[in-house]
Amino acid sequence: MKVLIVGSGGREHAIAASAAKSSKVEKMYCAPGNAGIEEFAECVPIGAMEFEKLVAFAKEKSIDLCIVGMDDPLVGGLVDEMEAAGIRTFGPRKNAAILEGSKAFSKDLMKKYHIPTAAYENFTDPDAAIAYLETAKFPIVLKADGLALGKGVLICQNFEEAKEGVRTIMLDKKFGTAGNEMVIEEFMTGREVSVLSFVDGKTIKTMTSAQDHKRAGDGDTGLNTGGMGTFSPSPFYTKEVEEFCSEHIYQATVDAMAAEGREFKGVIFFGLMLTEEGPKVLEYNARFGDPEAQVVLPRMKNDLIEVVEACIDGTLDQVDLQFEDNAAVCVVLASEGYPVSYEKGFPIQGLEEFNKHEGYYCFHAGTKLQDGQIVTNGGRVLGVTAKGKDLKEARANAYAATEWVQFENKYMRHDIGKAIDEA
Ligand code: AMP
Ligand code: GLY
Repeated sequence: MKVLIVGSGGREHAIAASAAKSSKVEKMYCAPGNAGIEEFAECVPIGAMEFEKLVAFAKEKSIDLCIVGMDDPLVGGLVDEMEAAGIRTFGPRKNAAILEGSKAFSKDLMKKYHIPTAAYENFTDPDAAIAYLETAKFPIVLKADGLALGKGVLICQNFEEAKEGVRTIMLDKKFGTAGNEMVIEEFMTGREVSVLSFVDGKTIKTMTSAQDHKRAGDGDTGLNTGGMGTFSPSPFYTKEVEEFCSEHIYQATVDAMAAEGREFKGVIFFGLMLTEEGPKVLEYNARFGDPEAQVVLPRMKNDLIEVVEACIDGTLDQVDLQFEDNAAVCVVLASEGYPVSYEKGFPIQGLEEFNKHEGYYCFHAGTKLQDGQIVTNGGRVLGVTAKGKDLKEARANAYAATEWVQFENKYMRHDIGKAIDEA
């Protein structure tokens, strides 16, 4: 079959690498893709939000299956447009992608269906938000309602900071229209775990767990980023935690969406916090995590295309989802200065090493081909990933592989997976 993947990051590279192993795939395209994805798919220069062009392309090439990797086009309704044109597409429709697209929606859903999450209030009026904060407990968490590249969350230590935060989100509109509405929620403490799942509208099958590292600097310091590295599985995601989540969170979310007339098909990403009172939902995403996909998909034994088709067809109950009994670690190589300001266009050396080693992957995030040379083209440049028999071995392997790659202003965290030692 002919497959079109929509997106351009490390996640889409991991999806493409996984899909390429399927005997069902004869030709793959990616829009817009990147220099690494070229290995598996023909990249076409159409942006992920150029719906008309994407649909026209899919029709022209007789695409049999479209996989939407990114949140923006999902929330914007690309799946609906593709389906209207007769293209089978993997991902939630617009009315279900709201699970990620609106934090106010997802908080109200959890409250209505008794899914454990932090206590909260939603606000559309900045004065009402500030009045509420006057009697609130600190620290407290402010969240812009809409999509904000994972950056619309402010943790405020006192009233003054929180008041400033309301201004930033709702009046200065730092995150654009995402700040028209805001969630104010209780601050929780605990370990964070990411659990991705496949959903076919009724059935949910969770994948192996992972943990992200969102802050830019070692020791979880510095600004929030799109993710500086991941490991999988999480040693903190015990059988007990899994059982609790299966009983109170996973199926409950799928059923809640169906009950609301918003049948969810695709990937639900559960951002969980393991609090003293038990696991609670921090956030939902309506897609694979990035860089979670980079450590989860390489460990999946199933044919990705078969699982994706089962989600579309509503036959996921017949799929036996299986993961390798090993571990993987991904270390993001970024451009010095990310996430604030950084230079681009530096040549990248050493990428060929990854073809020589089994169990090692270099997923491209911000790269491009320039005059026959792959150069840096973003803040997060590459996701160097390695498997190992356990987390410690995978981490040692991944860090060894970061040495294979050289480019000017290369920056990485040196403590990805440090939590493994505390498990
Ligand atoms: P989100 O986009 O909602 O996942 O938030 C981004 C990050 O902010 C999370 O990964 C947490 O580290 C942090 N965060 C979000 N909500 C809370 C909360 N209620 N309590 C503590 N930390 C939070
Ligand atoms: N790694 C977090 C995310 O994909 O949103």
